[in-house]
Amino acid sequence: MYLGLDIGTSGVKAILLDGTFAEIGAAHAALTVSRPAPGWSEQDPDSWITACESAIGELATAQPDAMAALRGIGLSGHMHGATLLDASDRPLRPCILWNDGRSAAQCAELEGKADFRGIGGNIVMAGFTAPKLLWVAQNEPGIFARTAKVLLPKDYVRLWLTGDHVSEMSDAAGTLWLDVKRRDWSDELLAATGLSRGHMPALVEGSAVSGTLRAELAQRWGVPQVPVAGGGGDNAATACGMGIVAPGTGFLSLGTSGVLFAATDSFAPNTQDAVHAFCHAVPDTWHQMGVFLSATDGLTWLSEIAGRPVADLAGLLPAQVTAPARAGFLPYLSGERTPHNDPGATAAFWGVTRGTGLPDLVQSVMEGVAMAFADCDRAMRAAGSEMDAAYVVGGGARSDQWLQIIAAVTGLTLLKPRSGDLGAALGAARLAAACAEGEVSDRIFAAPEIAGEVAPDPNLSARYAEKYDVFRRAYPQLRSLH
Ligand code: XUL
Repeated sequence: MYLGLDIGTSGVKAILLDGTFAEIGAAHAALTVSRPAPGWSEQDPDSWITACESAIGELATAQPDAMAALRGIGLSGHMHGATLLDASDRPLRPCILWNDGRSAAQCAELEGKADFRGIGGNIVMAGFTAPKLLWVAQNEPGIFARTAKVLLPKDYVRLWLTGDHVSEMSDAAGTLWLDVKRRDWSDELLAATGLSRGHMPALVEGSAVSGTLRAELAQRWGVPQVPVAGGGGDNAATACGMGIVAPGTGFLSLGTSGVLFAATDSFAPNTQDAVHAFCHAVPDTWHQMGVFLSATDGLTWLSEIAGRPVADLAGLLPAQVTAPARAGFLPYLSGERTPHNDPGATAAFWGVTRGTGLPDLVQSVMEGVAMAFADCDRAMRAAGSEMDAAYVVGGGARSDQWLQIIAAVTGLTLLKPRSGDLGAALGAARLAAACAEGEVSDRIFAAPEIAGEVAPDPNLSARYAEKYDVFRRAYPQLRSLH
């Protein structure tokens, strides 16, 4: 039996796998985010422990026999959060989360001090950990001076589970203090932020042992003192849950934001186009990610304006999309990450006439999102991605028409997993299994069962090629108006 724990932004999820790596139980405990100032986003690190206690306690009560046969625990969590601990391992302040924008000014300053792009593989963005620490140094110098260790959210949970300060490569890469190619902390990047290796946890691979469950907790839950695996950042862990541990099939997440993920067998950055290049959670493997901030959110926005539910809007399209909408849409309602890295980017419609109706607007929003995915795919290919197909996850994947459009625009074959529940907790549990079994194999990192696939329609692809050209010219034009 293997336990996976995912510390998500809105809640902790615990799942239990049996000896054949099939799910036999799950529990959930909610978390809240506090927003003490505009653009800030924080969480109390001890609330993660309370939520984990509750979710694990629920599994221990519901499945005592399975828990008694536990062989390993794996961890996953939201990335980039800065958890600052004093010399007694107590949090000095709330954790500054991945979606906190306060450190925008510190990003440019850091880029001027060290080669973050070359060594860290990424543009310094406010979401990442390093600029947050510079913000603390400049705005809360007393706290910065007392900071003995900086941990990522899931690694604070590990400290509670094992008593050890340890991180793993995929989450560590999201701090921007990792030499992503060498899979080791970079003294140069740490020094640029006023830190040194002493502030950092030890590093292991996601499928390796990071420590052993403390006796007190083992006794409380009726489990053996099992190894705790390194685990992974939430996107890398999600990929592990879908068996994406080598180049080939990636995943496309059509959620509030859009994420395109591909595994790579070498460090393959493309900071020019704002691709995220991180280590994967399994050895000798890396991954690339294209991220843009408004995917299904574009349709949610339109539904609020139209005063009709999102599902109604999606139903306005014909069952089979045969031609592009006449109107076009740039989907940058909340700024943009890949490929433009422009927090100030805005959205726009074009080609709107007196005859344009709601169905045209709905389809053009879906097409704009599809083209943002095509931009991500293009930027990742420029850095060597060889993705041929992608599993689709997220709420938007329920719309077949949207999938037809995305397949035609990107050229990717989209695979619809049978089970919608393939999240990071499953990946974390699989990493626990890999750690306990001593193997990174297909039997552990199995591909999901597929309920159906949407292949690109060549006629529609040809028609979208022209529209994609217009889309690519639209952003620089709009920007010049600002
Ligand atoms: C990745 C990112 C998010 C967080 C929260 O770069 O910012 O995916 O990990 O889920």
